[in-house]
Amino acid sequence: MQPNTAQPLAGRTALVTGASSGIGRATALALAEHGAGVLLAARSEDKLTELAGSIADAQVLVMDVRNAEGVERALEGHDPDLIVCNAGLGVGVGPLQAGKPADWDKMIDTNVKGILHTVHATLPGLLERKGGDMVLLGSVAGRQVYPGGNVYNATKHAVKAIYDALRLDTVGQGIRFTTVDPGMVETNFSVVRLSGDHAAAEAVYRGMTPLRPEDVADAILYAVTRPPHVNVGEMVLWPTDQASTRDLHRPLDPSQ
Ligand SMILES: NC(=O)c1ccc[n+]([C@@H]2O[C@H](COP(=O)([O-])OP(=O)(O)OC[C@H]3O[C@@H](n4cnc5c(N)ncnc54)[C@H](OP(=O)(O)O)[C@@H]3O)[C@@H](O)[C@H]2O)c1
Repeated sequence: MQPNTAQPLAGRTALVTGASSGIGRATALALAEHGAGVLLAARSEDKLTELAGSIADAQVLVMDVRNAEGVERALEGHDPDLIVCNAGLGVGVGPLQAGKPADWDKMIDTNVKGILHTVHATLPGLLERKGGDMVLLGSVAGRQVYPGGNVYNATKHAVKAIYDALRLDTVGQGIRFTTVDPGMVETNFSVVRLSGDHAAAEAVYRGMTPLRPEDVADAILYAVTRPPHVNVGEMVLWPTDQASTRDLHRPLDPSQ
């Protein structure tokens, strides 16, 4: 039988956490467009329901990735074979000594424990079928720290460590793991990080061209549509205007 090149993900079921916004939303749409059924997971039921309305085969899973039992419960009766652990957030930017422990809890519980809960609930299904894809959303912040990024940086370094550990713990079981590590992507991320200050969030991308969520979705799509013997492991995506987590070119900013 010839492979279905227009719908390479036909017959697959994708779970996308953080599907209500940004990278997760774009990824869910891209995977669905290429034939996957999608399980749309996040806390915002209204946004997920609206998104599900534009996808042929979609189901809404309202869940908070910080809650291990809640994740297991939401996934009962589902058997995804393509998992995108994308839900994540930054809370605040500033020196560690001025940081708030409650903000650290939010980042660590969502970005680190949220991935562990999602992996724990879904990896047994992949092991049973001896195949499937597990994609983790890391960040360039998991490769380079930057001033004021301390705890967020630490959570993304942890994502890289979890990715490395999963490869070692499951080798020989036919499962592919991918960490996708973007630089600046224009989403709701900065609005959340800067406590809803839209003007400050817009200033983050002032005068430069950030990645779009669709660019990251495209990279994920590439990884999960390779032949089964090819595992695209680590993908680092930079905006062309960004040289490192600390070096930005703002060619469209008249003040520079
Ligand atoms: N934007 C960037 O520059 C950038 C760069 C590198 C990496 N990343 C990573 O990319 C991922 C997606 O971020 P984004 O840029 O697309 O931001 P976004 O637009 O703010 O989307 C974040 C998503 O995560 C979900 N989420 C947050 N906390 C959750 C929780 N406790 N349980 C379930 N879902 C939760 C949100 O949904 P609800 O609020 O509805 O739950 C939302 O769907 C994150 O892991 C982020 O660290 C972003």
